[in-house]
Amino acid sequence: MKILVMHGVNLDLLGKREAEHYGTQTLATINKKLEALVPQLAKAAGIKGEVELTFFQTNIEAEFLAKLGEGFDGAVLNPAAWTHTSIALADRLKALGLPFAEAHLSNIAAREDFRHKSYAAPHARGVVFGFGFGSYAAALFGLLLSLKA
Ligand code: DQA
Repeated sequence: MKILVMHGVNLDLLGKREAEHYGTQTLATINKKLEALVPQLAKAAGIKGEVELTFFQTNIEAEFLAKLGEGFDGAVLNPAAWTHTSIALADRLKALGLPFAEAHLSNIAAREDFRHKSYAAPHARGVVFGFGFGSYAAALFGLLLSLKA
C-alpha cells in the first residue's frame, strides 16, 4: 500500500517558525518519526502487507495539486495555508476521490477565524489537529483503519 504524506506551503520552515504554534521539530524529524512508526500503525490497523510512505513538501500549489494525482492508495495531507484558501484543492480532492486524512500541527479551531474553515475537510476521511507530530501519527492511523475497513 502506497501512502503519500504531503506538507504544504511554509512547512519547510518548521523548527524555526512560530514555535508556540508549531513546536520545534523540523519536517525531517516528523517524517523520520512517521517512518519509524508506520509498521506498528499498520499492524494495529490490521494491514498485512507493507505500507510504503512517500514524503513530499512544496511551496508551489501547482506541485501540491499535481502530486495528488500520482496514483497513491491514500494520503495524509497538511495543506497548511492552502487549507483555508484553495477551492482548487477542494475541487481536485473531490475529482480524484483519493482517500486522505487531513492533519494540522496546531489547534486551528483555537486560532484566527480564517483558520477555522478548511476547504479540504469535507472530502477527507477525517481530520486531526492540535497535537503537533501526534496529529500526523493519528491521521495516518485513522487513514489506515479506514482503508482496511
Ligand atoms: C497548519 C495550520 C495552518 O493554519 C497554517 O497556515 C499552517 C500550518 C498547521 O499545521 O497547524 O501553515 O496547517
